[in-house]
Amino acid sequence: MLPAKQLEQSLKEISLKPKEIGYSSPQGSEKLREVLCEYLKNRGIKTAPENILIVSGALQALQLIAIGLLEEGSIVFQEQPSYLNSVHPFQSAGMRMISITRHPSLIDHLRKFKRKRQSVFYCVPSLHNPTGQSWSLKEKKALYGACKEMQIPIIEDDVYHELTFETPVPPIKSFDTSGQVLYIGSVSKTLSPGLRIGWVVAPSPVIGRLGDIKMQTDYGSSAFSQEIVAHWISSGLYEAHLIKLREQLKRRAAFVEAILERDFQRVATWKKSEGGFYIWLRFHEPIVNKALFLNLLQQNVLINPGYIYETKDLHHIRLSYAYASMQELEKGLGILRELIL
Ligand SMILES: Cc1ncc(COP(=O)(O)O)c(C=O)c1O
Repeated sequence: MLPAKQLEQSLKEISLKPKEIGYSSPQGSEKLREVLCEYLKNRGIKTAPENILIVSGALQALQLIAIGLLEEGSIVFQEQPSYLNSVHPFQSAGMRMISITRHPSLIDHLRKFKRKRQSVFYCVPSLHNPTGQSWSLKEKKALYGACKEMQIPIIEDDVYHELTFETPVPPIKSFDTSGQVLYIGSVSKTLSPGLRIGWVVAPSPVIGRLGDIKMQTDYGSSAFSQEIVAHWISSGLYEAHLIKLREQLKRRAAFVEAILERDFQRVATWKKSEGGFYIWLRFHEPIVNKALFLNLLQQNVLINPGYIYETKDLHHIRLSYAYASMQELEKGLGILRELIL
């Protein structure tokens, strides 16, 4: 679903000034940051170019925060299961991870921790990876309130925001009056992960610090990619593409859900997709182990087992309906069914 042809065509519409393809300022292209300020208004985030850092994907934002803002041994609270367990940006920098389940009460649980160390709360409240679930406004406000009171900064990873099928709940950042939230976005899930463009919105001292470290790391993100993203967002190409993308994803989600209802109802449960790429399929029995993974791989079916996101989880598979064709999805699910029934 990546719009390769359209991207190729759009290159002809982009004109470059020499200054724009030199080293950019530590925070990234001024043009893109201005475009983003306008773009983010739509989701209730009022910000200024000096509060934005352009990064080479959301993952780099997490790495910069780990290296630049947190001391070794800091605590990173995360929702269980968590995307962070599959990539380790904080673990590699020597942070202590504490996983908290969203239900019955994430906040009550959070309050029980006596923190002697610096800490942050990492969350993916819109179309969470891997579960695909979104938080309500009430939950977002409760987390913000509790973290403000406990002086815990929040890293809000919102890379799936644009892929919500219905109107998305406003991000936590939209009601952040204290500068407590480091907000992360990216075009990886919408336009192209290969462009490697994401952004962080945060108070300017934080952005300055992260920008310094980014300069020491890579002298800035690709000027060409930044020009492309600025063009796509400011020309309206991006918004038009998102409408089509959401429609395609919705169709694919419905297709997979129909197969699940027909073939998996007796052995598993799942929630209807609210957007994004994933269905978090829960098997009644703990069957999702390495042997199942390897058996499926032998038959050319690649699954994302739940234990990638939570080591002890042998119940879940993260099903993605975004990549394989509809025929491949049906075939793959057929092979899975044969293996487990
Ligand atoms: C929740 C979440 N955050 C960050 C990323 C990384 O995104 P990027 O490609 O922009 O680095 C991903 C990609 O899988 C993700 O699911």
